[in-house]
Amino acid sequence: MDIQVRVWRQSGPSDKGRMVTYDVKDISPDASFLEMLDVLNEKLILDGDDPVAFDHDCREGICGMCGMMINGVAHGPERATTTCQLHMRHFKDGDVIDVEPWRAAAFPVIKDLVVNRGAFDRIIQAGGYITAPTGTAPDAHATPVPKPDADAAFEAATCIGCGACVAACPNGSSMLFTAAKVAHLGLLPQGQPERDTRVIDMLEAQDEAGFGGCTNMGECTTVCPKGIPLTLIGRLNNDYRKALRNT
Ligand code: SF4
Ligand code: FES
Repeated sequence: MDIQVRVWRQSGPSDKGRMVTYDVKDISPDASFLEMLDVLNEKLILDGDDPVAFDHDCREGICGMCGMMINGVAHGPERATTTCQLHMRHFKDGDVIDVEPWRAAAFPVIKDLVVNRGAFDRIIQAGGYITAPTGTAPDAHATPVPKPDADAAFEAATCIGCGACVAACPNGSSMLFTAAKVAHLGLLPQGQPERDTRVIDMLEAQDEAGFGGCTNMGECTTVCPKGIPLTLIGRLNNDYRKALRNT
């Protein structure tokens, strides 16, 4: 496949940035989107140009590092797919593809397609933990967990912290991410001691980080590579109301 990519180039946080057009030739339809960018970068390096900076790590859809706007959609055109798991066969020979970083006030651009997602870390630091005794690992059956609760907690825990939900939200809200993190601990017995303080502190950290408010647009769940459901935001709001009454 021969394609053209229009990539956001920004040398640093204070640079204004601009779209730059590149031809990328002889790409296998079975190459991943990131492998296509690798081919572009090899050419840029050979030409003595600055390669395009982008985040990635596992390239297996599990670490949450990758993520970019592809033709205006977070993680690109395939549902429930991270950028690293998106393959070029979903595009056509001759396509022109726009590639941009996440656009959100709380995720400032560091360089090109790389944004600072430290704001997510601050939300986790505020309440994404439980208190447990140290020592040897407890017996697996020491704390019984009903199967429906275990399944629901597991579903919430599949959030990989990629930030696509924020990038897709017209308000730049991180409610889906925070809701997933609050739910995956709050659904389990081990998460009950901090249940009230967790939801209050994480929402406070979310506001302090500059994320926008949720107005139930639903764009977040549409682009979420793990299919985190909007219902978890309803659960978060209920937890928050209860926590305010209890504290
Ligand atoms: S909720 Fe989905 S889109 Fe948002 S950070 Fe988690 S995995 Fe990514
Ligand atoms: S590189 Fe790890 S999820 Fe994409």
